[in-house]
Amino acid sequence: MTTTLNNAAAVLGSPLKINGLEIKNRIILGPMSVLRPTPDGRPSAQSIAFLQRRAQGGVGLVIVGGSVATTQAWDESPFTPLIRFDKDEFVGDLKRLTDAVHVYGTPVFAQLFPSFGRMGVPRNGKWISAASPKSVNMGVAGLPDNIYIPGGRITPLPHEATVEDIKALEAGVVAAARRAKAAGFDGAEIAAHMSYFYSSFLSPLANQRTDQYGGSAQNRARALRDVVAAVRAEVGADYPLGIRMSVNDHLPGGQGPDGFAEVAAHIVKGGVDFISLSEANYDNMRVNVPSRSGTMLEFGEPQAFRKVLGPGVKLFLSSTPDPQQAADAIVDGHVDANMLARQMLADPDYAVKVLEGRVADINWCDHANSCMRRLILNVPVACHKNPEMGREHPDAERASLGQALAVWAAGNKPLMTIADKLARAKQKKQPSAASQ
Ligand SMILES: Cc1cc2nc3c(=O)[nH]c(=O)nc-3n(C[C@H](O)[C@H](O)[C@H](O)COP(=O)(O)O)c2cc1C
Ligand code: SF4
Repeated sequence: MTTTLNNAAAVLGSPLKINGLEIKNRIILGPMSVLRPTPDGRPSAQSIAFLQRRAQGGVGLVIVGGSVATTQAWDESPFTPLIRFDKDEFVGDLKRLTDAVHVYGTPVFAQLFPSFGRMGVPRNGKWISAASPKSVNMGVAGLPDNIYIPGGRITPLPHEATVEDIKALEAGVVAAARRAKAAGFDGAEIAAHMSYFYSSFLSPLANQRTDQYGGSAQNRARALRDVVAAVRAEVGADYPLGIRMSVNDHLPGGQGPDGFAEVAAHIVKGGVDFISLSEANYDNMRVNVPSRSGTMLEFGEPQAFRKVLGPGVKLFLSSTPDPQQAADAIVDGHVDANMLARQMLADPDYAVKVLEGRVADINWCDHANSCMRRLILNVPVACHKNPEMGREHPDAERASLGQALAVWAAGNKPLMTIADKLARAKQKKQPSAASQ
């Protein structure tokens, strides 16, 4: 490819149609659990200020993450609090959020998050469920840069979801989609990525079922295709609806991009307008949050999806902050838009700078992941490259000194190496501790 930087601005600045909706450019704020809603799950002044700041910075579309579609997801979440779509009483508050983003003329989509599946936390006597009983093994080698979990972590073993469980969750997601539309969201995506509930069906790595939800690609697609079709029937033919799915397991015994694309071909028959491409799982989280731009394109994942799905399903690229790479991928027909997460924390004006050809002014994310450490430790997320982040509203809750120290310690390699050795020695004495 031989596009120039000006071309990159023109390509990324061109409008895109997603179903009936036209977005003004192809730079998208990806979903992130950084919104600090109220403890009971309503958007706070800070949630709204964070989103408005990115809309002001020129993105073509905002996707609201850090949310739950069902009470099950709320109850089992490893992160708190989250924005709730699981009851009608939240619609008025969600409408405040969409109205506030719409002030900037920016459309806003809801991420409908059905269940944490293999990453859920059993609470209040309720166990977690997934396609099959398979834990996630978060070993040291799979963790992103500067993230340490002393001793690693093996998640609790989920129950195999019954057909009744699957259908109950589907009904919950349909109701959440109805609320999202009533609250003024311009579209929605169903979260089916990483090691979450629907993701566990898509690949033979986590799906060992022998019923109609396991085995062939068509069967592994069934649970997600059915929920997409049910949501489509609820929201209507012209409402932008997508999914967020993993595109590659990057693990032995797992599925590569061709296998995921084959599964996607069955899912889109339920009525999918777009796919937000997401890397890998929690077993190898370092692939999901890479430390350089463009890895997804190097792995050939968007290319595999495009080949199988054609141009009708819009594809959102991930983890490619280099505007030139993203523009080239669009020109080459591999993807339709560029969705960014961490870069949007580091620089809320990234979009306007790219679109005005002011790439030299961009405050680049350093991929050192202190934001992720904060998320994992349930500390208010901040970005060390952008002091404004997390404080877009003056009333935003700040991390305490103790929390800030914990974030620092959790990213300190020598300290974490000692903690890892201690944790492993303890596990040797109590072999079952890692799986508690
Ligand atoms: C602090 C933080 C919170 C996140 N929360 C969510 C979320 O709520 N939903 C989701 O689908 N992805 C979430 N992600 C993942 C991002 O959307 C994205 O897939 C990942 O960061 C890789 O993209 P990037 O390289 O542009 O950061 C989160 C990421 C970060 C850093
Ligand atoms: S803390 Fe900021 S600079 Fe560091 S990885 Fe997160 S977004 Fe990027």
